[in-house]
Amino acid sequence: MENRSCSAGWRQSRPRIRALLAAEQSPGHVAVEGWVRTVRHGKGVAFLAVNDGSCLASLQIVVDTAGPAGRALERVGTGACVRAAGRLIVSPGSGQRWELVADELVVLGPVDAAYPLQKKRHGPEFLREIAHLRPRTNLFGAVFRVRSKLAFAVHRFFQERGFLYVHTPIITANDCEGAGEMFRVTTLDPLRPPGDGTQIAWRDDFFGEKTGLTVSGQLEGELFAMAFADIYTFGPTFRAENSNTSRHAAEFWMIEPEMAFADLAADCALAEEFFRFLIQAVLAECPEELGFFEQHVAPGLIARLEAVAAAAFARMSYTEAVGALQRSGREFSFPVQWGGDLQSEHERFLSEQVVGGPLFVTDYPAELKAFYMRLNDDGRTVAAMDLLVPRVGEIIGGSQREERLEVLERRMRACGVDPAGLDWYLDTRRWGSCPHAGFGLGFERFLMYVTGVENIRDVIPFPRTPGNARF
Ligand code: 4AD
Ligand code: MG
Repeated sequence: MENRSCSAGWRQSRPRIRALLAAEQSPGHVAVEGWVRTVRHGKGVAFLAVNDGSCLASLQIVVDTAGPAGRALERVGTGACVRAAGRLIVSPGSGQRWELVADELVVLGPVDAAYPLQKKRHGPEFLREIAHLRPRTNLFGAVFRVRSKLAFAVHRFFQERGFLYVHTPIITANDCEGAGEMFRVTTLDPLRPPGDGTQIAWRDDFFGEKTGLTVSGQLEGELFAMAFADIYTFGPTFRAENSNTSRHAAEFWMIEPEMAFADLAADCALAEEFFRFLIQAVLAECPEELGFFEQHVAPGLIARLEAVAAAAFARMSYTEAVGALQRSGREFSFPVQWGGDLQSEHERFLSEQVVGGPLFVTDYPAELKAFYMRLNDDGRTVAAMDLLVPRVGEIIGGSQREERLEVLERRMRACGVDPAGLDWYLDTRRWGSCPHAGFGLGFERFLMYVTGVENIRDVIPFPRTPGNARF
């Protein structure tokens, strides 16, 4: 198979369709490569819509059936990979500014009738079954272009503000959130593990202790904040919680900044600035994709994002939030009571009905939160914050950290965390401890928020959820 695109000079023979469609004037004769979305036959002519993933729109390729390019047409169907060369001309038809009149058409990868993406529109459930092919659809093309742009915007935000990017480990011996939801990492023989038959001898395992996939890079991030002051992590995170919801994934990406010399108010301020920055980035850089989501996924999306980019976020203590929920007179499936965890229905009610936008809820009861959060002077709440947004609920979780050694050790024991196992973490409180704070933003939850897509499985290229890790 002829394959000119593999020549030296990687962009020589392949301008992207995005650039061609935005051209001010015709570059003349060009060659494009991409996947056929539709084939339409007219009198003596065929129209191919070819998409190369660079943008939502496809390029119309006009092929004279009797001409030299016409010979390949019988092998061109929906889904085929083609290269077409010809002149880019102003399209006489409506619906596109440019079209390519082909004098050469090569089928790089043919298809047959079994190709599953024949229809113009498929439901997300069906597309989830073919997650390996769904990037070739309009919806997933738009989602993953937004995901890529936003990943870069995350780095831009922190790099422009002098934060250090740190790669925290993926394999770890500590369960940061203390929730026991770690995937195990081991090289032991599951049928014959070392030990006395009642207990596994983890010291004989690869790392000499019990290890798993990280649930958060925070603890290591804190160590770096106590050397570089302002840091962030952005990496994969794993949770073996068996909650089959539309908002939970077993593998997701989290952004975790950590700032030395910062309290809870500074933490909320950073989260708000960061959130707004990302929304402005998607509004500025992905107008085509947002237009698609607005039309096909979530009407009103763009106005909602613009309003959030302009508004100040509300703040409310947990105690006030419980009061607001109780006063609402609303029947919740989980009754509300001081000391109880806020459920998704409560979180959504607060942001959607009580404030009508993003809302920080702060100062939760200590028993509800992880050991590392700073104990408030009242002795029963901690300096925690969750950012709640309409439709998604909790999107950010963060806190000021407990910097006092004795208080931290007491909180660990109260939470059932053995201080001896985290002696390295406690060392920062022994030597040169300082007030510090940070948070975690779930990248997929954020993508759900800005695209309007309702299931987390549809904003992850290859989602991992209970019972699902095939592709
Ligand atoms: O609230 P979480 O558990 O907080 C932490 O992990 C802290 N260590 C963060 C920090 O302070 N550095 O998780 C933070 C965010 C949540 O608000 C949510 O957006 C997302 O991570 N998240 C998930 N996203 C998808 N699937 C899951 N199973 C998630 N669990 C948490
Ligand atoms: Mg949380």
